[in-house]
Amino acid sequence: MERKIRVLVAKPGLDGHDRGALVVAQALRDEGMEVVYTGLRQTPAQIVSAAIQEDVDCIGLSCLSGAHNELFPEVARLLQEQGADDILIVGGGVIPQEDIPFLKSQGISEIFTPGTPTSVTADYIRANVKRKAMSFVQPPKKMAHIGIAVRSLEAALPFYTQQLGLSLLGTEEVASEQVKIAFLAVGESRFELLEPLSDESPIAKFIDKRGEGIHHIALDVDDIHARLERLSANGVPLIHETPKEGAHGAQIAFLHPKAAGGVLFELCQYPAEKVGGNSE
Ligand code: CO
Repeated sequence: MERKIRVLVAKPGLDGHDRGALVVAQALRDEGMEVVYTGLRQTPAQIVSAAIQEDVDCIGLSCLSGAHNELFPEVARLLQEQGADDILIVGGGVIPQEDIPFLKSQGISEIFTPGTPTSVTADYIRANVKRKAMSFVQPPKKMAHIGIAVRSLEAALPFYTQQLGLSLLGTEEVASEQVKIAFLAVGESRFELLEPLSDESPIAKFIDKRGEGIHHIALDVDDIHARLERLSANGVPLIHETPKEGAHGAQIAFLHPKAAGGVLFELCQYPAEKVGGNSE
């Protein structure tokens, strides 16, 4: 299940009316978000500290006192100071149209004036916190290798070495998968030719079913554990929920091909001393 969007609804400043804020808080809950409400008369520093403690994706500021031009930018400034400026800030309340460009220039992403349907606010938050939801996973660093299933390394290798002119980096047996693997360098990337060592090997089964050919695409990542947790939490089907040992001491895990329209993806994380797996 996808992690729910967490929103801190906060009332900075001195005004003592929170009916509007409470209505918005309830409406966002009805939209499936987790909402924390700070209560009245919070300072920007209290709001920022609550947002960080509660690990929210978005802060919704409400202000009726007229002090929004001081209070909202101060929240944005403190968030940045704390390195938490990936938290989306939106504002609402009694805010004159002419103040909106200034507030946006100060890091408030959007202002919702009275009468805005709460579904509009919710849709905006959903569309714009996505960036944040993705931001804690780094993109894969590069293509680690393309895995190709072959019946026989001996038969397959001459095409790669003699015809394409690639250099053979080495061969390795991976007992757990019952395969013998040959790595060929293509610049920073690799071809990984996989020959089954027994009929029980997943590669033997693949060749039986689909013939020789491209078997998987491997991505070089830094954060395999966090990435698998996140994929699993998001309902992406996995073959391996936790990494296992692959060639060259890498930690590897396969996603289920259902996750990507029939393409089998592998995640590879190489030991620190073999950054990118380039020191074979
Ligand atoms: Co592989």
